[in-house]
Amino acid sequence: MNVRSSHMARTARTLALGALGFTAVLSVSARAQDADQIARGRYLAIAADCAACHTKPGSSLAYAGGYGIASPLGSIYSTNITPSKQYGIGNYTLAQFTAVLRRGIRGDGAHLYPAMPYTSYVRLTDDDIASLYAYFMHGVKPVDVAAPVTALPFPFNVRASMMFWNALYLNAKPFVPDPNKSAEVNRGAYLALALGHCDTCHTPRNAMMAEVESQQMGGAAIASWFAPNITSAQNAGIATWSAADLARYLKTGDVPGRAQAAGPMAEAIEHSFQYLNDDDINAIVAYVKQLPANASATVVDRHQTQPRDAFGAVSAEDAVLRGAPKVDRGALIYDGACASCHQPTGLGSKDGYYPQLFHNTATGADTPYNLVATILEGVNRTIGTKHYYMPGFGRDSYVQHLSDKDIAAVSNYVLKQFGNPAAHVSTQDVASIRAGGPKPVIAQISPYIKPGLAALVALVVLVAAIFALRFRR
Ligand code: HEC
Ligand code: HEC
Ligand code: HEC
Repeated sequence: MNVRSSHMARTARTLALGALGFTAVLSVSARAQDADQIARGRYLAIAADCAACHTKPGSSLAYAGGYGIASPLGSIYSTNITPSKQYGIGNYTLAQFTAVLRRGIRGDGAHLYPAMPYTSYVRLTDDDIASLYAYFMHGVKPVDVAAPVTALPFPFNVRASMMFWNALYLNAKPFVPDPNKSAEVNRGAYLALALGHCDTCHTPRNAMMAEVESQQMGGAAIASWFAPNITSAQNAGIATWSAADLARYLKTGDVPGRAQAAGPMAEAIEHSFQYLNDDDINAIVAYVKQLPANASATVVDRHQTQPRDAFGAVSAEDAVLRGAPKVDRGALIYDGACASCHQPTGLGSKDGYYPQLFHNTATGADTPYNLVATILEGVNRTIGTKHYYMPGFGRDSYVQHLSDKDIAAVSNYVLKQFGNPAAHVSTQDVASIRAGGPKPVIAQISPYIKPGLAALVALVVLVAAIFALRFRR
């Protein structure tokens, strides 16, 4: 063996080892990059609350689907989005995954119902979709269980009909930062609109159930609840909230002297917002605080004469103890059902766990849905290790079932004693809120429309129902 060939062999070996080392370094950093991307995807999945619909309540099978979203035409089941190749999305390419999030088109080319909120996720950036994809492919455990198949009656089983709605209302554009706004406000807008989808609840919808952009965050009914105006409108909005109050609300759902979160807002905070980092919460706050006032936009909020949290005062007397000869029915119910926690004075408990009922947006709102819905459904919110709990007094209450008439009476007592005395709740209001809130106009007129049009209308009703019900669990 000559010197030269041994030198060449050594060089070759060195080169080979070098190359090996190089690939080793590469794959270590590629793996670190993958791990980063998967972690980012996990955070995004929480911010977008994918689990809220894709995990059956009470099930330990994360993302295995099977949660039935009720609609008047039957249940629409969320699907298994674990990487199971047989039952989940294990065979999805990035392009197919992107088509689901941006266009509501499934891997096999079929249209999804907008119960899957692609109308919000369409705004996601390519990078974020890639991170979500990495997480769902590599960070989620495959679950080999089939989710129930959605089988709506004809013609709603014709998924292609969603094309018409999409053509009219799917605003198919990824998010574009506004150069006239700060980086923080732009980040907040992205979080609020693409991921946290605040607008899907807080922005009013037109008769076809599409969001009215000029009334962004102007307040809207969502099933039994009302997602209030959160613009900077002086009375109807939240102009008087400090940035710290708003941040605290999004993190915990409890701002003493202003508001507590129940219903769908409590769910969004519990499952999603409480896990956002402080920078992201502050960005959402910066975005919300600069939303232009649009008080006149929402008919229901037109009569708000002071900010919702400015009404009422501690009550000096207990109407029942006062022994007035004509004690009001509402006062009696309040004494029996509410005063043990909120106190006869409405002051709540010293530690604030039982909140005060004056200076409280639920009792100061001109549209007192949230007061009635709270009485019907209660409050049930876990933040970190703290559990905020108020029993509901609805049909399946284990404490006490209050009738529509009783709930109207106690609501009116609470409004008069602690809240907005101009607001009024009728027995019919309670019945309607108990039944899931006012129906969209289109649902009310549908019986009178010719059968040919009825299919289209029914489809719209379906969409409406989905939007109204999608966050109920
Ligand atoms: C408000 C409820 C809801 C949320 C939130 C939601 N989804 Fe969905 N998703 C659904 C429903 C319902 C379907 C099935 C719709 C249908 O059958 O038309 C679906 C379908 C899908 C599909 C199609 C799966 C298949 O079977 O081929 C994918 C992928 C998907 N969702 C991913 C996601 C991801 C990722 C997120 C979070 C970024 C998310 N979803 C958030 C309700 C939701
Ligand atoms: C699933 C529907 C839903 C989503 C998503 C949602 N909200 Fe809400 N929000 C509500 C409802 C309903 C209420 C009323 C809750 C109550 O009074 O108990 C509410 C209350 C609020 C309040 C308190 C207003 C008041 O006067 O009491 C603020 C502030 C708020 N939301 C901000 C946001 C922001 C910011 C986002 C997005 C990051 C968001 N919400 C996402 C439904 C929603
Ligand atoms: C067992 C104790 C308890 C009883 C009884 C009770 N509450 Fe509550 N209430 C709570 C707790 C706890 C909260 C939530 C506090 C939080 O979220 O920080 C709450 C919240 C509220 C809110 C604010 C909800 C919101 O969405 O802003 C209102 C209004 C309210 N209660 C009214 C009533 C009325 C009216 C009754 C009687 C019909 C009643 N409560 C009975 C404990 C109770």
